Amino acid sequence: MQFPAYRPRRTRMNPTIRSLVRETTLSPSDLIYPLFVKPGSGARDEVPSMPGVYQLSPDGLPAEIDRLKKLGIHAVILFGLPTSKDERGSEAYDDHGIVQEAIRAIKSHAPDYYVITDVCLCEYTSHGHCGLIDADGYVLNDPTLELLAAEAVSHARAGADMVAPSDMMDGRVAAIRTALDAAGFENTPIMAYSAKYSSGYYGPFRDAADSAPAFGDRSQYQMDAANTDEALRETALDIAEGADIVMVKPALAFMDVIRRVKDEFGYPTCAYNVSGEYAMVKAAAERGWIDERRVVLETLTGFKRAGADMIITYHAPDCARWLKEEAHRAVGR
Ligand code: PBG
Ligand code: ZN
Repeated sequence: MQFPAYRPRRTRMNPTIRSLVRETTLSPSDLIYPLFVKPGSGARDEVPSMPGVYQLSPDGLPAEIDRLKKLGIHAVILFGLPTSKDERGSEAYDDHGIVQEAIRAIKSHAPDYYVITDVCLCEYTSHGHCGLIDADGYVLNDPTLELLAAEAVSHARAGADMVAPSDMMDGRVAAIRTALDAAGFENTPIMAYSAKYSSGYYGPFRDAADSAPAFGDRSQYQMDAANTDEALRETALDIAEGADIVMVKPALAFMDVIRRVKDEFGYPTCAYNVSGEYAMVKAAAERGWIDERRVVLETLTGFKRAGADMIITYHAPDCARWLKEEAHRAVGR
């Protein structure tokens, strides 16, 4: 194939031929929307560093789920802001904790709506780390596993469809799988944050979830951004321990990792388009420096192209709306 016999521009002549040869598609059904839930009633507090993202109280969830359903978004992942925090993150595994109440609020309104829960302790611990700490502030691995497993079971008992451990303790997928099975939840899948990097891109999330560590950082448990072979080892471990879906997080700076994980394992793969990635787009768009719609659709398509089957993104509602508009335009053409 050589010029002039082959002219790649021929298949770019108009929208119809471009859509016929398109290799990657993005659909609202690929998207998972994160929700931040807090106690109380009537709460709808915008996160300053994440315009358009709100902390909601459970009573606001039915309307929010109706809005998402209309947009074609069929799954959410829940993050909780507890009433109180302590050293052991007790509210995380309390059957009447905020996430458990939020699940029930959604399920009593929309029993079929797919609810995923983030399983971690950092939102619930007074020190903001993802596990138990010792007197030196070291995050203890093995004693933390039991609490994560209890949290996952408590979420499942409240009605969660899937649990997603984000703590990065070694062995947590196995601990959670064993506990879920023992409690009769053998059909509850685990989406493991397998290649979760220690990242500057989580800044706005820690405002939204009030989960910044009180001292130090997470580099003793989250991965070093320089590594990709290690991401494959982490993912292999999670799969061996029973993960049903694996995740790469953040997404934008780690598209090579998404591709490697997908190629190596062929497992359902999730990309987490994190808070800092969202905030950058929002800030630049607000200044009129970028076209938000184009940039978001291009980026999310990029995650799919890199190998992601699904994307957790704060852009989900906007993206779904834009995709719907484009589909309309294509039909009306
Ligand atoms: C909890 C958790 C974090 C995110 C998801 N789950 C924060 C962290 O690890 O500090 C980040 C999500 C985002 O930035 O959008 N461990
Ligand atoms: Zn955490």
